[in-house]
Amino acid sequence: MVWWWRLVLSLPLLRHAEAQNWGKTIDVAGRQRMLTQRMSKEFLQVSLDIDPEANANRMRGSINLFNVTLLALINGDDEQGIIGSPNQLVADGLQVVLGLWIPFAQLLLNHVATVRDSSGFVDMAVLTQVANENVPLLVTSNIVVGRLVDAAKSAGAPTNGLVVDTAGRQRMLIQRMCKESMLISQGVNVGTNLRLLKNNRLLFANSHVGIVEGATWAGVPVLSKLCTMHQMREVTYNFQQFSPDINRILNAETPSDSQQIAIALSVNISDKSVPLFASMVAAVQLYVNDQGSCDPAADMTQAGWQDLLMKTLELRKLLEQARQFYLQVGNGIDVANSQVGLVVTLNSILERVDNLVQGNKALDIPAPPTQSALTSLLSVKLQWEELQGSFSPAMTNRDGVTNVEVANINSDSVGFKSAVQQIVWQYETSAIGELTAASDATTEAATGASIHTIIVAEGQKANVVEVAVLANLVAYAERPDENSILMNTTRDTFVEIHFSLLEGQAATDVYPAIAAENDVCFIRKMRTIYSSFVTLENLAQEVRSAGTSSLAEIPQFVDQVIAGYEEVKGYYNQGSIPCSNRAYNLPEWEGLVFAVGRLRALTQEASADFILSTQGVNVERSIASMIRFTAAFRSLAYGDDQLPSPPTQQAVNKILNTVKPAYDHVFNAAAASNVQNFLIQADAVASKCAEIKSMYFNEAQSSLSEFPVQRLEAALDQMYRVNRVVKLALMNIYQLTTTSNTLSQSISEFERVHKDMKEGGGGLPEIVSQREDLLAQWDAVDSAWQRLRSLLLTQSAGDVQNLLDAKMATLQEIDVLAELFSVPDPGVLETFPWMFVAYGLMGAFLLFCACGAAYIHWASRRKRTDAQQQGGWSQA
Ligand SMILES: *[C@@H]1O[C@H](CO)[C@@H](O)[C@H](O)[C@H]1NC(C)=O
Ligand SMILES: *[C@@H]1O[C@H](CO)[C@@H](O)[C@H](O)[C@H]1NC(C)=O
Ligand SMILES: *[C@@H]1O[C@H](CO)[C@@H](O)[C@H](O)[C@H]1NC(C)=O
Repeated sequence: MVWWWRLVLSLPLLRHAEAQNWGKTIDVAGRQRMLTQRMSKEFLQVSLDIDPEANANRMRGSINLFNVTLLALINGDDEQGIIGSPNQLVADGLQVVLGLWIPFAQLLLNHVATVRDSSGFVDMAVLTQVANENVPLLVTSNIVVGRLVDAAKSAGAPTNGLVVDTAGRQRMLIQRMCKESMLISQGVNVGTNLRLLKNNRLLFANSHVGIVEGATWAGVPVLSKLCTMHQMREVTYNFQQFSPDINRILNAETPSDSQQIAIALSVNISDKSVPLFASMVAAVQLYVNDQGSCDPAADMTQAGWQDLLMKTLELRKLLEQARQFYLQVGNGIDVANSQVGLVVTLNSILERVDNLVQGNKALDIPAPPTQSALTSLLSVKLQWEELQGSFSPAMTNRDGVTNVEVANINSDSVGFKSAVQQIVWQYETSAIGELTAASDATTEAATGASIHTIIVAEGQKANVVEVAVLANLVAYAERPDENSILMNTTRDTFVEIHFSLLEGQAATDVYPAIAAENDVCFIRKMRTIYSSFVTLENLAQEVRSAGTSSLAEIPQFVDQVIAGYEEVKGYYNQGSIPCSNRAYNLPEWEGLVFAVGRLRALTQEASADFILSTQGVNVERSIASMIRFTAAFRSLAYGDDQLPSPPTQQAVNKILNTVKPAYDHVFNAAAASNVQNFLIQADAVASKCAEIKSMYFNEAQSSLSEFPVQRLEAALDQMYRVNRVVKLALMNIYQLTTTSNTLSQSISEFERVHKDMKEGGGGLPEIVSQREDLLAQWDAVDSAWQRLRSLLLTQSAGDVQNLLDAKMATLQEIDVLAELFSVPDPGVLETFPWMFVAYGLMGAFLLFCACGAAYIHWASRRKRTDAQQQGGWSQA
């Protein structure tokens, strides 16, 4: 029994050894071809006086190696693992080689010392003989390799003989190209050698592509082994260095020009062939047997990982851009330019995919650092070939865009993007792993931005293009309902990430944290990006109603967002971002003051609504006011599409260091359903807002002497007070700690300012008697307020809805009053046009708080007041 087991166990071992021997045998037989060319080249180098002694010795070495190997191929050599003449055909072929070899070796050995004499005279007869005799030796050696490949195949050897043969032949071609360029430089058969050099250069280049990218129709598979791929990246690079010199010889006008160039370049060609040859020899070894024993990931630096990640990530953006151009062609948007864009983008993707699969040393791109990354990238490449086929008809023909292809591209894109995402994820995980192993000092870019942060920011570029793509799909009537929803999802993702990049985000199990930002210039840049994005999104939403007309305007905003994020990347890498330090103008200051006032009033509204929700009354109302509260805080801290961001670093710091902590506590209290704490923290936000408000008023007044401080401030404060008294009343109704004293104090405060607004005082001007409209509206505010006031005082749970209605009615009447305030009193033109703008804003503000939907209203009102303001200027 024991012998039987031994047999079973030894069988696969034998197989393995034999398989290795076939590969090895084909390899050394292939090397013989190279040696015929190398020894000829070395002989020529001696004749050219290039390092003659060393080259003569090298030539003897080549001759000896050829001789020893020839005998081993004939007779076999167990120690080296060379199979001797496995069949008659091979044996016959080797005999022919032997017959040519003996005289050729003699020719070289006998003349190497004399081919060039001390006076520089070259024995052309010998050179011609070498030129004539080396090729038959090469050809017959090559026949042997072909027969061995066939023998290996019929023996069932798993080695891909064809690949080893083709890779092995590359070594020969390098030597051969050198030899031919030297024969040209020596004037031996210049025409023939030029032709041969041209063919061999082409054969080398094609074979190089073939053994990397595969030529499946010819039985050459795609290169998928990690270590071989890394080695071939070296070969590619060395060939890029070598090839231009050869081209210069080939591209000369006349044969004698070629000869002159070949003479001039002979040393350079010799030198450059050395690394090319060495790298190819190492590659052939790996084609014979790649056991995956290299570990390129170990050599990756942080910068290297980051760069590779970015280049991979960019595929997603490029794909979205290709889709955008493609669909623009289909939708008839700027067709000619879109087609050019499509062509360029398709080329970029192809080039990028190849560079990621194979690496590109000239561009400093490594080949994939892990086998799994290589495997995934190869599948990305296959998917890309599929996609490209769908895209390309549109490059030249508008009818190339069809419903069928649009649908194909949509579904294939999903696979492509998720494959790319997988690789990015793999790289990021490895990078983060590497980084935790490295010291802290090296893990962070200049600003402390983590790789994760940079990746997240970079992903925004693809997100914004995707919004444009989805708008185009809707316009193309490709599943418009579904794609409209997807468009909103992508929009939401973009906005969420936008604020994560500003506010920071806690670490998760997988990803490190994103740090909160407080750089005034960074915040300003992000605000600009946000404005472009909102404009783009509005255009995208209009596509369903307005069709392709709004589509045409989209691309410029996509470009703006992408360019903005390019600057953001620069900020992460360099730690600063350019930022103009201009002073804000009047409408901007008003916007800022307005934003503080809005947030301050919302603290009270959100409190009132939270009280109601904890009583089980109208929970949705509380959710809605919390959303407005969040939006108001974000606008104050970071600006939005209408409002500028804070004007100075000092303002940013004050908002983020004082308002933000209290604001965060409000949400913590809400999460904990702690109503008492909610009210306390909301009041803390309000009091911090009051500080920001006075800071803004002071700064605005110092940069704009005519800033209408009193009336604007009074109006904003009245807003806050109306909301506050309603909150206080609800606290009394639901017996939350407060005293009715606080309520009555707040009521009298409101009433004092209310009175001053009519009669003058506290820095406010009186309403003059000619303004009957103002007086009437003041009365309307007053009666709404009287009704609100009585409900505030009855304090009955049954009156809550009436109370809320009365609050809204009061706010609406104040809004109208504010509108009327914007009409100048007769004879007080000196306050014009500031008052226009101020009260227009205020009115909008009131309405916003009352209805919640006033945002758009405010924006449109803003346009009107701007127009009025301009009118005012032209009158002045
Ligand atoms: C080749 O090897 C054989 C056997 O060792 C030897 O007799 C012969 O001289 C060698 N030929 C050359 C050219 O080195
Ligand atoms: C040869 O290579 C050297 C170094 O790369 C370069 O400076 C020189 O110009 C090259 N010679 C020619 C003729 O191009
Ligand atoms: C997308 O969002 C916009 C604005 O928020 C909304 O008006 C629209 O109805 C949404 N579209 C879909 C399909 O949900």
